[in-house]
Amino acid sequence: MQRVVQISDTHLSPTKRHFADNWGPLASWLAARTPDLVVHTGDVTVDGADVDEDMRHCRALLDTLGAPVLSIPGNHDVGEAYHPHQPVNDARLASWRNHLGEDFWAHDLEGWRLIGLNSMLFGSDEAEEKRQLAWLDRQIAEADGRRLGWFLHRPLFIESPDEGDKGYWSVPPRPRRHLLELVSRHEVAFVASGHLHRAHDFAVDGTRYIWGPSSGFVVGPELQPGMAGTTTLGAVSYTFDGRDFAAEIHEIPALKTLWIDDVIHEVYPPRAA
Ligand SMILES: [Fe+2]
Ligand SMILES: [Fe+2]
Repeated sequence: MQRVVQISDTHLSPTKRHFADNWGPLASWLAARTPDLVVHTGDVTVDGADVDEDMRHCRALLDTLGAPVLSIPGNHDVGEAYHPHQPVNDARLASWRNHLGEDFWAHDLEGWRLIGLNSMLFGSDEAEEKRQLAWLDRQIAEADGRRLGWFLHRPLFIESPDEGDKGYWSVPPRPRRHLLELVSRHEVAFVASGHLHRAHDFAVDGTRYIWGPSSGFVVGPELQPGMAGTTTLGAVSYTFDGRDFAAEIHEIPALKTLWIDDVIHEVYPPRAA
């Protein structure tokens, strides 16, 4: 049996320390569970997309966990598609790879192939978007009968697979359609995501969709009106046993409930035009 823990949206920085106090309790909780692997589903940093020190700081923190860590980038780590100030591009991806490792990866367990995807490339029209999709096809084709589980930062959708564009919150419809086809055709067992800072666990057409909670902060209802899931701070545990898997969202009571709404003007100040 293999044990994996998903952590997400730590938003850490040596200079913007608004969520720094929640790292210690998360690290202690992880240490007590002694997972075989930790997967970080992105927004590792406050602003690694532009601030190198954030990347270095987070690399050092992840190295203290005492377990192997595989991370995938969030919007605050590598930027976003067509963003006017912080587009995802080769330079930002190079910085991520330099500090935190591959931005998309496959990791085999007995009976399973876990695939980490860089969701910030979806819809970017960067050359790397095509390269990732071709790589993904190969990983699926060469899975050799292993079951598939995906990790990514942005969820593929919020409410339903065929919904329209949810803007900031999810993968846009055009790249989403192709990815959902792959999910369906290859019976992907679960798609685990971060980004929303909400915990949720539901199934559509036999695939489990798991919103991994942040361990850093939660988001008020003004920014996420009516969104499903809960404003839990915690992590997700997975066990893989043969072809079976179990996943459970854990609230970590030692994490302090911090609201981005209270500090957003300091952490992510609006940019001058
Ligand atoms: Fe986040
Ligand atoms: Fe995010």
